Amino acid sequence: MSQPREHWGSNVGFILAATGSAIGLGNLWKFPFITWENDGGAFVLLYLICILGVGLPIMMAELLIGRKTQKSPVGALKEAIGPWWGWVGAWGVMAGYVILSYYAVVAGWSLLYFVRTVGWSVGGFPAGLQTGDLFVEVIGNGGLQSVLSGLFMVATVGVVYFGVHSGIERVARVCLPILFVILVLLVGSALTMEGAGEALVFIFRPNFSELEPGGILEALGHSFFTLSLGTGAMITYGSYVSPDRSLVKAAGAIVFLDTLIAIFATIIMFSVIFTVPGMTEQVGGSTAGMLFISLPQLFYEVVPFGVALGPMFYLLVALAALTSTISLLEVVVSYFIDERGMARPRATLVSGGSIFVFTVLSALSFGAVPGLSNFEIFDGKAGVFATLDHFASNWALPLGGLLITLGVGWFMTREATEGELVDETTPGWFHYGAWRFFMRYVAPLAVAAILIAVIFFGVDFS
Ligand code: PHE
Repeated sequence: MSQPREHWGSNVGFILAATGSAIGLGNLWKFPFITWENDGGAFVLLYLICILGVGLPIMMAELLIGRKTQKSPVGALKEAIGPWWGWVGAWGVMAGYVILSYYAVVAGWSLLYFVRTVGWSVGGFPAGLQTGDLFVEVIGNGGLQSVLSGLFMVATVGVVYFGVHSGIERVARVCLPILFVILVLLVGSALTMEGAGEALVFIFRPNFSELEPGGILEALGHSFFTLSLGTGAMITYGSYVSPDRSLVKAAGAIVFLDTLIAIFATIIMFSVIFTVPGMTEQVGGSTAGMLFISLPQLFYEVVPFGVALGPMFYLLVALAALTSTISLLEVVVSYFIDERGMARPRATLVSGGSIFVFTVLSALSFGAVPGLSNFEIFDGKAGVFATLDHFASNWALPLGGLLITLGVGWFMTREATEGELVDETTPGWFHYGAWRFFMRYVAPLAVAAILIAVIFFGVDFS
């Protein structure tokens, strides 16, 4: 027999949990890096347009499917749209599974850097230490990384095990406020640095001659990743919203906060980088570079109060990653509970344990085990980690998102969607007709453009 469905304890709890899912390594690790690669301004503007024109409408669509059906992605899409659409949900569950497996590896690094920075703050930064060398050492050490990502997985499982209200919501209520406080402190400190002006110009002054076609696609692909769209994470979280609460306001808040944090993260990172002479040339070599190679050292050499802010920063990264890994695991767990009739404790352990097998394979793919590190399915993406990341960002999320927009825009009736979105709590800025137009035309065409570009022009935006 199925148990009654759990619900969020409050609207604020729901918004915090969903915002926690959205804010993660996508904001702190990936966004600054791709903004750097794409020369700032124009890319940031495009990203903002994608968030508003594609991300926000799809966020509302995923939440509404979940709330309407009170089911996790597979059952929800079957019920809301049609029997075959269960496969779109299954695709999302698979994507969540894949993303969590490699995401936990990067989350594990953040734990290590937290511990290390605490050590340096207490005992002093070792003279002559090159944090770049440290990073290379860490990623080559498969055992250490397996332990770190294993710890992270245990924390994730530990939260999801306790369910929606006593697990996920409670952690989000604690983590999110801490995260905001740390970020505001860091932004405040960044803005006092010499390089802050240059950083702001880089981020906010658009120069369209610098923007390459690949950047347009990257902005769109990242808007899915950062908002947790395409895996059904938001369908799942929406399914725990009781029917009397406004989705539109919640969607607006989640998207606004996620975007704000992404911008804050770039301000922090670029202010530091522009302050240090010669740093701009050094950044960029590797994707993980900024967060784990350039920044740690700078906390001890440049950033005012870096001794306190350094460890705080890595704590922030770890907490932000945790509220995202929780949502990824919850997608998989809710599938086993709703579709396979498992009890939550068992579903959590089975999912977490089996995902961790792939986490270890990813952790060993930075050189520790040559066979896992060198094979190449996608051009230029060698090893398990890079392959999974490429597959998830380039294929799984955009395809899942495209199918969801088509399903909601074209196969759900106007009455069905309008009834979910419009009620007396709907804010004045929301216009249902505009939303439907974006769902039917703008979002699917934009997403189809990404996929066609990847398939026919081989554009890479992972
Ligand atoms: N949005 C998360 C981030 O920015 C990642 C994520 C993707 C989480 C898909 C859930 C689903 O880090």
